[in-house]
Amino acid sequence: MKEKNRSQDWFGRKDKSGFIARSWLKNQGLPNDVFDGRPVIGICNTWSELTPCNAHLRDLAEQVKQGVLEAGGIAFEFPVMSLGEALMKPTTMLFRNLASMDVEESIRGNPIDGVVLLVNCDKTTPACLMGAASVDLPTLVVSGGPMLNGKHQGKDIGSGTDLWKFSEDLRAQIITQSEFDETENSMSRSPGACNTMGTASTLACMVEALGLTLPGAGAIPAVDANRRRVSRLSGRRIVEMVNQDLRLSQILTREAFENAITINAAIGGSTNFIIHLLAIAGRIGVNLTLDDFDKLSHNIPLLANLKPSGQYLMEDFYYAGGVPAIISQLPDRLHGNVLQINGATLAENYCQSRIFNPEVISPRVTPLQENAGTVVLRGNLAPDGAVIKPSAASPELLNHTGRAFVFENIEHYNRVINDPDLPVEQDDILVMKGAGPRGYPGMPEVGNFGLPHKLLMQGVRDMVRISDGRMSGTAFGTIVLHVSPESAVGGPLALVKTGDIIELNTHEKALTLHVGVQELEARRAEWVADLPDVNRGYASLYINTVQQAHLGADLDFLVGNSGDHIEREPHPE
Ligand code: FES
Repeated sequence: MKEKNRSQDWFGRKDKSGFIARSWLKNQGLPNDVFDGRPVIGICNTWSELTPCNAHLRDLAEQVKQGVLEAGGIAFEFPVMSLGEALMKPTTMLFRNLASMDVEESIRGNPIDGVVLLVNCDKTTPACLMGAASVDLPTLVVSGGPMLNGKHQGKDIGSGTDLWKFSEDLRAQIITQSEFDETENSMSRSPGACNTMGTASTLACMVEALGLTLPGAGAIPAVDANRRRVSRLSGRRIVEMVNQDLRLSQILTREAFENAITINAAIGGSTNFIIHLLAIAGRIGVNLTLDDFDKLSHNIPLLANLKPSGQYLMEDFYYAGGVPAIISQLPDRLHGNVLQINGATLAENYCQSRIFNPEVISPRVTPLQENAGTVVLRGNLAPDGAVIKPSAASPELLNHTGRAFVFENIEHYNRVINDPDLPVEQDDILVMKGAGPRGYPGMPEVGNFGLPHKLLMQGVRDMVRISDGRMSGTAFGTIVLHVSPESAVGGPLALVKTGDIIELNTHEKALTLHVGVQELEARRAEWVADLPDVNRGYASLYINTVQQAHLGADLDFLVGNSGDHIEREPHPE
């Protein structure tokens, strides 16, 4: 047991500073005894009406508060920057690191002993975890949960995944504009995050896999009463964690990260998982590399039959057993002895777990795919790595050699993609430059860029696409992402020209540009850097300090941890 809580450095003083800390808070009607040394819990809320996936988080915050009070603590809810994937331009990824700074300083600078992170939409989860990891207080996560299944004309439709299909069908004139419009009212039926195994649900499963939620919390639908119940229980638990001084660094061990990578492979999780997990590991001081993802995903079968890799949606996943059912199938590949936030080990928490619907979650002996984890590619086109998600790709394209057809940037692509005379062929490999962290800036989800209109009209539905960008976790296709170094800083991608031959060999984990060394050197001699012309504000700071994708795209000066101690006071003695 600790001698005293951190918050007593504010509230436990008889001087002017103690007066200020207590007196101003009393304007909210607080009685004296809440300052008696009991655990003070910060509820770090990413609620925003501009982040629709998080718009119900104030309701969950009330449940957390209730739980904190029941366990003898006092809770203060505070807002941090919210990042809404559906609305924010040019991309929420540009602001993930900024939000993490907000979280870090809000936690460290306030009289908080323990933190509950209320997160949901894609970037709010890693941003909050990165910030919290750099302070390292007792911390747990409550995610907002997925939306109910979309329903349209008697069929289930999934966020993002079905939109990408409808959109290509519209461009190919398979459906009409009014049929496309009709689906708009059917896709998002309740509060919550995307209902596919997109990035938000991937990360909700990730936090459960890391041991940062109460067991079973990852997949509970946003509107299910169990989501509120788990929020309340989380409020109770964080008070106990403060009393036990159970800090984030005791949960986020190397073994916990390894478990998360293994579980992510089995659920067919988003490729964005990689970049965010690398960034979180960098903050907490765990040495994780791109190669770890490749190694740990090897021979992990795909068990979750969820869009975009499969058929079903997150609601079905929850009813089928969710993350606990996945864990139950992988005992020999997971570290069962890791500590989780409820004080038990992974093995203890999940020893009773099982599958309730083998259509949605396959038993290990009959997997949906034998080896489905994200593959890390290397070669002269991606010396520091690139990634591909085979479970969402067309099997016949996973090993493919073709002529490059290059888009120099997103504007070039937008200008020509619908040209009926575009000289592009179905066997070509489409290359997009300028979508990396520094080049865009912010590494947007443009990697799943649509196919040329001319080829869509011929019935083509997938082609190999390569970029230094990311893709939506809800997307599918034979798509090579996160090419590092990116083109804007002179990575080999910058040197590719239309007509070059590129070989994608997923089997051999290779991405090769078949152009001679001398020719590449000649092209490099003529190459000029192509960074955005931004000279002020956060974007300027970002462009000058962001790391490459294979390192997690954190700002270089944010990597690491400054702890919870603050030397100086805001007022003189
Ligand atoms: Fe928020 Fe997908 S847009 S989770």
